[in-house]
Amino acid sequence: MRAERGLLITLEGIDGAGKTTVAGVLQKRFPDFVFTREPTDGSFGKLARSTEEPLEQLFLFMADHAKHLRSCIIPAINRGEVVVSDRYMDSRAAYQGALLRETISIDWIYDLHRPWSLMPDMTLLFRIDPSVALERCTNRGATSIFEREAILREVSKNFDIIASREPERFVVIDAERELAEVAEHAAYEIERLIRRRGR
Ligand code: TYD
Repeated sequence: MRAERGLLITLEGIDGAGKTTVAGVLQKRFPDFVFTREPTDGSFGKLARSTEEPLEQLFLFMADHAKHLRSCIIPAINRGEVVVSDRYMDSRAAYQGALLRETISIDWIYDLHRPWSLMPDMTLLFRIDPSVALERCTNRGATSIFEREAILREVSKNFDIIASREPERFVVIDAERELAEVAEHAAYEIERLIRRRGR
């Protein structure tokens, strides 16, 4: 067991940005890290995926996040591990913030997390034009309601707003390049963070 507190790195981006594929490459590159994801495969994660009602989604994704933190992320961080989560709180801010923009603000979604959640040490935002992303989704036969272009555009705009507000936490990765290049950039940023933290 390592004595120091671990690190939390999150991967964010719209559907079709390729971050899940990159996560697979990173997992091979960093076999000692803990790789996890939201939504989880647990009961709240399954429920969150099963509804198309945005307010229900928000609270189900939140419940999934609470359980994910308690059962996986916090214990790993306390053991001193490096945790990489494919999606995390910024997905709520960007997606449910877009779908609920008439009634709920992005700030309110962050306020919901702040008292009890854990802020990532670094967030890699995989940035891609929504029409390119949608083409990738269509090619793999995906049908999520989030994969409609108008919604993806709103979500993408939200990710840009969120990233520009916290330039120290976010690293924007151009995800329109070849997978190998995107993965290399992501690995470089992770190694840089680890060096900076003296690990
Ligand atoms: P995704 O990681 O793409 O899972 P899958 O591999 O099953 O497609 O996540 C599923 C969808 O859930 C994706 O479109 C993003 C969305 N989502 C939210 O809207 N809010 C959230 O808080 C999270 C974690 C995901």
